[in-house]
Amino acid sequence: MRLKTRAGFAGLTAGVVSVLLAGSAAAAPAPGSIGIGDPYYPHAGNGGYDVAHYDLRLTYQPSTDLLSGATTILLTATQDLSAFNLDFGLKVSSVRVDNRPAKFATSTDGTGELTVTPASPLKKGRTATVVVAYADTPSKVKIDGFTAWKKTPDGALAVDEPQSAAWWFPSNDHPTDLATYDVSVEVPNDVAALSNGTLVRKTVQRPGWTRWNWRSTKPQATYLTSLEVGKFEVNEQTTPDGKPFITAYGADLGESLGAAKASIERTPEITEFLASKFGPYPFEAQGGVVTTGITFALENQTRPVYGARAFRSGSNTSIVAHEQAHQWFGDSVTLGKWSEIWLNEGFASYGEFLWSEESGEGTADELAQYIYDSVPAEDPFWQVLPADPGADNQFDAAVYDRGALAVHALRKAVGDDTFFRILQTWQQVKKAKSAVIPEFIALAEKISGKPLYDLFQTWLYTKGKPAVGPNGAQAL
Ligand code: ARG
Ligand code: ZN
Repeated sequence: MRLKTRAGFAGLTAGVVSVLLAGSAAAAPAPGSIGIGDPYYPHAGNGGYDVAHYDLRLTYQPSTDLLSGATTILLTATQDLSAFNLDFGLKVSSVRVDNRPAKFATSTDGTGELTVTPASPLKKGRTATVVVAYADTPSKVKIDGFTAWKKTPDGALAVDEPQSAAWWFPSNDHPTDLATYDVSVEVPNDVAALSNGTLVRKTVQRPGWTRWNWRSTKPQATYLTSLEVGKFEVNEQTTPDGKPFITAYGADLGESLGAAKASIERTPEITEFLASKFGPYPFEAQGGVVTTGITFALENQTRPVYGARAFRSGSNTSIVAHEQAHQWFGDSVTLGKWSEIWLNEGFASYGEFLWSEESGEGTADELAQYIYDSVPAEDPFWQVLPADPGADNQFDAAVYDRGALAVHALRKAVGDDTFFRILQTWQQVKKAKSAVIPEFIALAEKISGKPLYDLFQTWLYTKGKPAVGPNGAQAL
C-alpha cells in the first residue's frame, strides 16, 4: 500500500519536475547506456550501475536443454536512472525492481540487450534488488549471430571468452564490474552441475533432482563465472593449506583420463609455486574441470576448464600453469578493456615459462629465444600487436607468445629482483580491480627507476620483429 502510493507520487512529480527544471542544471533521470564503452565490444556491459552480487537459482534439464529459474542482482545506481540495461539473450517472463514489477524488453536486433524500466527511477547512489525470471533453451539463442552455450550429449557448458554470461544469466557483462556470486543449479541426479568457488552443499527438494549450490566470495568477472553440466567424476579434496580443491573429469575422457589427472591433480603444487613468484593466491578455492565439450581452456575463477585434447599426448602441466597464472593475471586483476588482452595472456604465458624453469624443462631465456628464433621476420605473426590485436585476433598466437616475450624483455631490462617486485606490487595494488596497460608501465618505471616506454612501445605497440641482442635496441 505504502509502496503503491509512493510509486504514484514519484510518477506524478517526475512530470512536474521536468517542466519546472527545464533549462536548469538539474538533469532528469536518463536511461543507462547500452554499453560500458569497450573499444572492441560496444554492447558489452552497461552504463549507470555497478553490481555487488549475483544470486542465480536455476534448474537445467539436459534432455530438453531447458534452463529456467531466476537471477537476483544487487546493484547500486551510479547515476539517476529512468531505465537500465542488462546483457541477456534468454526469454524473460518477469522483472521486479525492489519488489515492484518493472517493464522490460529484449532487443529485437539480436544484440542481447534487456532493457528494464523500473516503476520509479533509481536515484544515484541507491542500491536496488533486481529479480529476473526466465526460461529458454540457450543453445538456440543467438546473440550477434552466435551462441556461447555449448550443448553436449549429457549436459551443457557455459564457458567462453570474452562473453558467456548472456546465455545463462542477466548481467553487466564486462570485466570492469566484479561481483560476488551464489550459483545454485538443480539438475537430474545422473549429472553434476559444476561452477566456481566453494560447493556449499548439495540439496534435494524433489525425487530425481539434485541442487548444486556454489559460492564465490571474492569479486569475480562475468565471463569467468561458469557452468558445466554433465556426467563427471567429481572429486572433493583440500589443498595443503586447507582450501577446497574440487576437480571434475568428464565420464567420456577414455584414454586421456590418466594424463588429465596427472596434470590437474598437481594444481595445488603449481599454484604454490606461482604464489612464490606473484604473491599470495587470491582466491578461496582451487580446482579444474576437464571436458571433451570444448577444444580450448579457460581460466574460470578458482576452477579453470580444460578441453580434453590438451591431454591427448600425455600430461600437460604447462596448461595448468597457464590457467593458474591467470588466477592472478586476468581473474584477480581484470581487464579494463578487452583490447588490452596482453595483461591476461602475456603474463599467463609467462607463467608457463616460469613453471618450465622450475620443472627443469627449459629456462625462460631458452623458451624466449626459441620462440624469437623460430618465427621469421616476414611471418604475419609479427604484424599482430599483443596489446591491441583487434577483436578478431584477441587469441592470436602473437598475443600469447610475443606477449610473453614482452614480459621477458622487461625481466631482462630490470633484473630478477626488480621484475618480481613489480609483479607482486601490481598484484597487491590492483587486487580485485580492473587495470589498464599504462598503469602497469608506470608502476614498472616507478619500481625499477628506469625509463621503459621504448621497451613496451617496441614489444607491445610496434609491428615487425624487434631487433634484439648486443646490436638490437631491446633486451631479450
Ligand atoms: N583465456 C583462454 C586461455 O588462454 C583463451 C580462451 C579462448 N576462447 C575461445 N573461445 N577459444 O586459456
Ligand atoms: Zn590464457
